[in-house]
Amino acid sequence: MGKSTKGQRIGILTAGGDCPGLNAAIRGVGKTAIVKYGMKVIGISDGFTGMIHNEYRKLREQDLSGILTMGGTILGTSREKPFKSDIKGQKEISKPALIRKHYEQMELDCLVCIGGNGTQKTANLLSLEGLNVIGIPKTIDNDVWGTDFTFGFDSAVNIAAEAIDRLHSTANSHKRIMVIEVMGHTAGWIALYSGIAAGGDVILIPEIEYNEDKIAEYLVHRAEENKPYSIVVIAEGIRNPMKDRSAAQFMCNRIKEMTGLEARETVLGYVQRGGTPSPMDRVLATRYGTAAADMIARREYGNMVALRNNDIVPVPLSEVTNKLNLVGPDNPLVLQAKNMGTSFGN
Ligand code: F6P
Repeated sequence: MGKSTKGQRIGILTAGGDCPGLNAAIRGVGKTAIVKYGMKVIGISDGFTGMIHNEYRKLREQDLSGILTMGGTILGTSREKPFKSDIKGQKEISKPALIRKHYEQMELDCLVCIGGNGTQKTANLLSLEGLNVIGIPKTIDNDVWGTDFTFGFDSAVNIAAEAIDRLHSTANSHKRIMVIEVMGHTAGWIALYSGIAAGGDVILIPEIEYNEDKIAEYLVHRAEENKPYSIVVIAEGIRNPMKDRSAAQFMCNRIKEMTGLEARETVLGYVQRGGTPSPMDRVLATRYGTAAADMIARREYGNMVALRNNDIVPVPLSEVTNKLNLVGPDNPLVLQAKNMGTSFGN
């Protein structure tokens, strides 16, 4: 029999690129752990870097108040991948060994790792090394396998859709083609959702190979039909042969060359990751956080909390790792958009 939940000490870290909703998730785990279970909560600084360098602070319930709506992460984050590199000049003790040492020194019963694919992979490796770990999936890209949605995605889609809405009026005034590039890494979720939400005429995603001729033909046809402007929404991960240019610059130039029409590009960038989370992300992050604390109380370690058909369920970290959640070519949203005349460039 282990110690009661009252004596349990849990660590929380946020790793990888930040996204809206991280503080809501930290609050969800921490408050439930403290209020419902009487656990002690430790906030680890800057993702796995804090575990390697033993940098942390105790979090009291009052430290978790007033952070729900805040963007970023009160704990800081980093892209540290402890299983990938050694500390320069310090070969004798590996980063995973330092993490284990500090986990033991902090007297942790569980480490909650809030992050995307890389973080869940590291969490799984730590779990295989015998640490008690729980994963919480976050990323604006929505590409973590095993869950229907990650938090951060809805906020990014809101920001991207608002930006595309604003391009419509300026595109109309000048009768131009507007190419807007959104994030998503190798996945097209943000482009697909924001493109549909804001009425993109062309949506290009990495999962669907585009044909330049088809895009040009489609845009010329629109112009000939007296549609004065067009909106082209592209994911950053689409095929881009010009390595020194953004995907938007490349596509915009090709469109100008091939159609003779006037076009401008916009790269939305990091605004998609900043600022306050959407209410949907606040709710999802809170649900994940509270479920993670419940899982720790039940000692169901080695799992990631996931959303499936609107239920929160545990998914083994070993199943999540090395897979990606990408847009399938038969995704109903793609088919429905095509049925309305939206082009995916294929
Ligand atoms: O994973 C989130 C994300 O914003 C991706 O959409 C993007 O490709 C990447 O992170 C940017 O990473 P960094 O913060 O290292 O510049």
